[in-house]
Amino acid sequence: EDAAHQARFDARIDADGRIEPRDWMPAAYRKTLVRQISQHAHSEIVGMLPEGNWISRAPSLKRKAILLAKVQDEGGHGLYLYSAAETLGTSRAEMLDGLHSGRAKYSSIFNYPTLSWADVGVIGWLVDGAAIMNQIPLCRCSYGPYARAMVRVCKEESFHQRQGYESLLVQMQGTQAQRDMVQDAVNRYWWKCLAMFGPPDADSPHSGQAMRWGIKRFSNDDLRQKFVDATVPQARVLGVTLPDPDLKWNEARGQHDYGAIDWDEFWQVVNGHGPMNRERLATRVKAHEDGAWVREAAAAHAVKQAQRNLK
Ligand code: 3HC
Repeated sequence: EDAAHQARFDARIDADGRIEPRDWMPAAYRKTLVRQISQHAHSEIVGMLPEGNWISRAPSLKRKAILLAKVQDEGGHGLYLYSAAETLGTSRAEMLDGLHSGRAKYSSIFNYPTLSWADVGVIGWLVDGAAIMNQIPLCRCSYGPYARAMVRVCKEESFHQRQGYESLLVQMQGTQAQRDMVQDAVNRYWWKCLAMFGPPDADSPHSGQAMRWGIKRFSNDDLRQKFVDATVPQARVLGVTLPDPDLKWNEARGQHDYGAIDWDEFWQVVNGHGPMNRERLATRVKAHEDGAWVREAAAAHAVKQAQRNLK
């Protein structure tokens, strides 16, 4: 019985087809998707905190309105992704418990502080730029609900990246102090954005299987390389220096060579010891606890409504 199901599943994957919630799927396929989609959702929700820190201090009403819209989008992305994960049989409560307990991961990049207004632009340009690089292939993920969520997310992410880059262009035409502020933010975020794509392929336990299942379409290192090659000319137009003395065009490869990433720091942060990990989780736990009364009220209302409908 299962052998027939497995054969049909394999044939669908080999034909680059889509797997939908009610289709039979190997338990390990379901498990790795719950892991990745729920952690992707956590990344969106925790990602609201660093830039949210600047909403009350944006330099103009225009910048405040744009930032508000972006942070609200991230919250929406989180909700699509939690819903996509729920189609695999997990629950919102289970996933949130994973985040709040520190068991589940979220993108390492959000464990760093946003020290100046320029950080908001650099997050838009580089962090959302990296996120787009990683999310566009996910629009072709073999699992239907995840791929469809990504199509919507990618449309909004391109606005996030463009608004960040535009605000940096304006700052780079400002005073020397403003230009220095942008360069300082680039210096602090560049290497951490390269690490966002995940460990080197040789140290990536999930990549092989994820690529065979059509979940991961490009390897961590391939996407990282695409990001570097796309970002170097943007940095040149902006007039900032990327903080890597080994970064240079390699004619033979037709790509840029770049320096060594500090993977010890990466794993330190992923394992909970970054500058802001404790604050980020404490903020999410507090928000969840402060919102308990809303969930209870909604549940009580739903029970009353159901009883009314029975009469
Ligand atoms: N931060 C935290 N953990 C990371 C990580 C990162 N940047 N990169 C890898 N890891 C973790 C993996 O989750 C895995 O741990 P786990 O088994 O406990 O889940 C471990 O390191 C090994 O990494 P692998 O490469 O083997 O794992 P994956 O095959 O899952 O690849 C990934 C990692 C590329 C992040 C993949 O999970 C993925 O594509 N996820 C969906 C995209 C995503 O989460 N993007 C976050 C971008 S931020 C964002 O979207 C918000 C933006 O809008 C601002």
